[in-house]
Order: sequence, then structure tokens, then C-alpha cells
Amino acid sequence: MASDLLKDLPKEKYPRHIAIIMDGNGRWAKQRGRMRLFGHRQGISSVRETVRECHRLGIGYLTLYAFSTENWNRPPREIRGLWGLLKYYVQSELPELKRNGVRLRVIGDFERLPADVRKIIQGAIDELAGGKGLALTIALSYSSRDEIVGALRKIAREVKENSLDVEAIDDDLFSSRLMTSELPDPDLLIRTSGEFRISNFLLWQLAYSEIYITPVLWPDFSPDELHKAIAGYADRERRYGKTSDQIRNEENS
Ligand code: FPP
Repeated sequence: MASDLLKDLPKEKYPRHIAIIMDGNGRWAKQRGRMRLFGHRQGISSVRETVRECHRLGIGYLTLYAFSTENWNRPPREIRGLWGLLKYYVQSELPELKRNGVRLRVIGDFERLPADVRKIIQGAIDELAGGKGLALTIALSYSSRDEIVGALRKIAREVKENSLDVEAIDDDLFSSRLMTSELPDPDLLIRTSGEFRISNFLLWQLAYSEIYITPVLWPDFSPDELHKAIAGYADRERRYGKTSDQIRNEENS
């Protein structure tokens, strides 16, 4: 049963783009005396529920941080297990994702993923390409600093080739050279497991995002927890550097 928290909240108050740092799978497993992979497996259920609920609520964009470039330093067995779970998720959910009009994207160093994982993900991206609903982005082998350096390289190359004037470089142009160029910036960042860190995730894109940190570990993150985060977001006033009075006057004009 989903909570009543969003019952009286108009849809315009929902965040358009939610980004999530899914953390705490290992601790969740450890608390139960199990292997880390057991936590990741349960984490997949949270992914499934969260994607379903975002679709149900009509959220436009959901971006999940599933694997950072730093995660390559984990034991090979855990990494293999994670790819296995990712393949399982994509294959088993594909029919429902398609029915729901979900589109799929990946950001990160896609070429570094094992060939079989790439094949399955690319197949799902192609299959879901026409979807008009939730835009689901999964960050895999992702590093925000690498993404920023990549954008900088592209821009430098364009300037060198005389296809771009230095004076034309601004916020929007820079954003358009990032891997997230087709996504609006996240309105809400959720991080589970109580850590107060951004961990090299969407450093540029999160400039004005509201941040919601919950002590709940990712395998325990339920639609109710999502509702709490959305309700918390809707309660806050986004000022973008302006005063409260200015925001109120703009709303009333
Ligand atoms: C963080 O927990 C979680 C991860 C590094 C992996 C998240 C991946 C999944 C839930 C599965 C695949 C994803 C998708 C989108 C299908 P942790 O291991 O860092 O936990 P800890 O901090 O408690 O050790």
C-alpha cells in the first residue's frame, strides 16, 4: 500500500527529474550475516519498485547511479555478480518497461562494460527507443569528473577546428556537450544510507538540486520512502539565489 503523503500534492509540485545514489546494499547484507551480493540482489527489487512508482506518479526523468568508475576496484566476484544482476533486471523487466513507455539511456564509459552486458543493454535501449513515458538513465562505469573533462575536450576540439567561437561558450553550451545533454538538470537528488557525499555523481548537473538524504539502506527503499522524499522536496522553496519575497511575488504575478 502506497503512503498518503502525496494525496493532496498537486502534480506540478513533483520533481521533474529525480536522481538517486543507491547506497547501502553491502551494509544491508552484512547486518543479516550474508554476502554483499545478497544486498545487491535485494537492491534490484528496490530499483524495480522505484522505476514502477516513478512511472505511476508520472515523473519525467529518473537517473540511477548503479556503478561508478571507482567501483571497478571492488572484488572481481562482486563486479561479475553486479553485471549478472543488471542483465537479469534489464531482461526480466523489458516487457513491463516497454508497456509503460519507459525509455532507457546509459551514461558513463559504456565501452568498458563486458561485451555481453553491453549487448543486452543496447538491445533494451533500441527496443525502448520509442517510449514516451519515464526517461530512465542508468549511470554505469560513470565518473562526473571524466564526463566534464570529456565535454571540455569536445569544446576545445571544436574551437581548434574553428567550428566554435570561444565567446559562444556558456552554461547551456557546456551542458549540451555532457552525456546528459538530453536531460533537464535533476530537481531532487536522493541518497540512501545516510552518507553526506555526492561521490563524483552529476557534479555540474546538481548545481541547484535539492538534496534528500535518508538513513534507509537502498534494499529497504520503498515507494513510501520515495513519497517522503518527494513530499520533502515539495515542501522546500527553490530560490536559485533569490529572496523568498521575490519568489512569492513571481508566483502571484
Ligand atoms: C551501493 O551499495 C550499491 C552499488 C554500488 C550497486 C547498485 C547496484 C544495484 C542496485 C544493482 C544494479 C542496478 C540496476 C540499475 C539494475 P554498496 O555496495 O556501496 O553498499 P555499502 O556502502 O553498504 O557497502
